[in-house]
Amino acid sequence: MRILKFLLFGTLAFFSVSAFALEIPEIIKMSDVEEKPVLFHHGEHQAAVSDCSDCHHAGMEKPRCNSCHGADRLIPRLKSAFHHQCRNCHIKNGGPTDCSGCHK
Ligand code: HEC
Ligand code: HEC
Ligand code: HEC
Ligand code: HEC
Repeated sequence: MRILKFLLFGTLAFFSVSAFALEIPEIIKMSDVEEKPVLFHHGEHQAAVSDCSDCHHAGMEKPRCNSCHGADRLIPRLKSAFHHQCRNCHIKNGGPTDCSGCHK
């Protein structure tokens, strides 16, 4: 029994660690809305922006923006949420603001 518990715990710990590592990709090819795909360098942004919640403003439980934006009509649509968050920070901090800077 003790061995079984140990194995279970070990497996859970292993899965939670590896799942976490796998769930944060270096580059995300965004195609939630039909348009030229935007390649988002999550890794570089994560390194430049210290706080996850600057972008994941609703917390880390649902990291995908489309779990709320576009899912509930009272919440701003996905395109608007991305354009506001991405572009506003770029205007302030010097990332690309031209369409082609993001839509390759
Ligand atoms: C800072 C980055 C950035 C800039 C600059 C930007 N976009 Fe986007 N745009 C995005 C992201 C991110 C999405 C969502 C992509 C996705 O999930 O597929 C998006 C989505 C869109 C969509 C899809 C909307 C839909 O409902 O299908 C259109 C159209 C669009 N952008 C047009 C533009 C135009 C036109 C400009 C220039 C005036 C522009 N974008 C500038 C990042 C940007
Ligand atoms: C500069 C903005 C920004 C920062 C900072 C940031 N993220 Fe993200 N993250 C995003 C965007 C945008 C996505 C793509 C969301 C989508 O496609 O709906 C994403 C996606 C993710 C995903 C993948 C979701 C999936 O299933 O594809 C995870 C996990 C995640 N972020 C975790 C984190 C963690 C942990 C931190 C802090 C260490 C962090 N993020 C910091 C913007 C950011
Ligand atoms: C758990 C639900 C939830 C998730 C997940 C979520 N949001 Fe939001 N978001 C909201 C709600 C509700 C509002 C409107 C109320 C407010 O301003 O807080 C909002 C407002 C916003 C706004 C301000 C309104 C606008 O369009 O300018 C931006 C920008 C935004 N979200 C971007 C994002 C991005 C980018 C992600 C993914 C990284 C994300 N949100 C994930 C619920 C969510
Ligand atoms: C909180 C601030 C912040 C947010 C939010 C943010 N960015 Fe950026 N981004 C930056 C900064 C700062 C740079 C410039 C980094 C550099 O040049 O070293 C940058 C650079 C970029 C670049 C050019 C360099 C590269 O990595 O290819 C792209 C493309 C880009 N961002 C896309 C996006 C998209 C798409 C979003 C929204 C999903 C987004 N960014 C949200 C701060 C932000």
